[in-house]
Amino acid sequence: MKSFGNKIKVMINMKYEIKKGKGQELWKKAKKLIPGGTQLLSKRSEMFLPDNWPSFYDHAKGVEIWDLDGNKYIDMSLMGVSACTLGYADDDVNKSVKAVIDKGSAATLNPPEDVELAELLIKIHPWAGMVRYSRTGGEAVAIAIRIARTHTKKDKIAFCGYHGWHDWYLASNLADDSNLDGNLMPGLEPRGVPRQLTNTTIPFEYNNIDSLKKLFEKHKGEIGVIIMEPLRHSGPENDFLKKVREEADKQGAVLIFDEISSAWKQNVGGVHLLLGVNPDIAVFSKAISNGFPMGVVLGTSKVMDSAQDTFISSTQWTERIGPTAAIATIKKMQEKNVPAHLKKIGTLIGDGWAKYAKKHGIKLKILGPEALVTFALEYENKLEILTLYNQEMLKRGYLTSDHVFVSLAHTEKHVKEFLEKVDEVFEIIGKAIKDKKVKDLLEGPVVHRGFKRLVW
Ligand SMILES: Cc1ncc(COP(=O)(O)O)c(C=O)c1O
Repeated sequence: MKSFGNKIKVMINMKYEIKKGKGQELWKKAKKLIPGGTQLLSKRSEMFLPDNWPSFYDHAKGVEIWDLDGNKYIDMSLMGVSACTLGYADDDVNKSVKAVIDKGSAATLNPPEDVELAELLIKIHPWAGMVRYSRTGGEAVAIAIRIARTHTKKDKIAFCGYHGWHDWYLASNLADDSNLDGNLMPGLEPRGVPRQLTNTTIPFEYNNIDSLKKLFEKHKGEIGVIIMEPLRHSGPENDFLKKVREEADKQGAVLIFDEISSAWKQNVGGVHLLLGVNPDIAVFSKAISNGFPMGVVLGTSKVMDSAQDTFISSTQWTERIGPTAAIATIKKMQEKNVPAHLKKIGTLIGDGWAKYAKKHGIKLKILGPEALVTFALEYENKLEILTLYNQEMLKRGYLTSDHVFVSLAHTEKHVKEFLEKVDEVFEIIGKAIKDKKVKDLLEGPVVHRGFKRLVW
């Protein structure tokens, strides 16, 4: 045991420890069998607590997750990386899904839920007239890009924000390997993406309309698509979205809002409905089906009909579970006014973090929206501090990160109990920062950010 302030030593040693078990071992094996260990960067154990994260779950319900050794944790982190906004294994969604499994989840004929979901989505988004479906977010975006390019007959794309793993998006880093920095995921290498795509996907800056206008000047007549997240951690300023819409109309470009992360949290539907600007296409996935695979491309009939002029087709996009889960999820969101609940709980968490940070002398900022409440540590060694937070919260029975993606299953009681532990852990962190001992308290390596190879 290294020497640091006595009180910290007592608090860290006496009561709590990390439960090592099958999960940590299985993660080591997974990295040998699956490049990167998992199919989603954000579920790598290294993103939370390298060497010590339970890594795998046996079952999950509400906000509770049981690891492979039967230890129970409360999820105060990413809730299935923003997919399970109703909570894990939601009874109503599961009931609908189980019913269609028993009726046959795939057949030579099509599921009628495809049409029911289309009508439901168009009722919520009256500007739209047609849909196509996928089963993941990234492929839904790729479909939207193909339809938009087909519609305008132009190759180049102006983008800001994060939009997945596909060639069209990573191609941005062929021209300049920092183009994707600032768009959520630094360090994405365009290896394996054809060099011929260089300069086909070009970044502009959120809340900077001139940066978009400059792209249209520089690439005269070549840009046919603008794709962006309508908001992420901060919203539009100075009518930014309205100006983007005007520029799209002036240039004859298709405007796509990628609502994979932004939708269904602040209102039931795309957040653009709240922000008062309609795109030509909106893309949804994640929370739309509470963790069941589903992706949606929703657009005006005029633009969407161009999907008939190009080949977009896949067997698994016709199975029945995805649209069934989406219908059940959306209906429950409407019935329970889920966005109001997420805002209330997210506000309590953000206020609690701020209160205990102040109490223990920790400098951090709370960022919104409330449903995706986040703290940003204002220190050079912020990743070490975050690692210490995750480590100490894990010992106390919580899965944490610097975000909480709030769900309907999070109650005020959960928040109260969570904040009691935050108080304890922030006390340790506050003292460790003051004594410059943060690294000494870590029981494993520091968390990763961005994309990098994993050693196995
Ligand atoms: C805005 C946005 N677009 C696209 C994606 C990619 O979706 P998926 O991981 O389902 O492929 C994500 C995932 O985080 C996202 O947040």
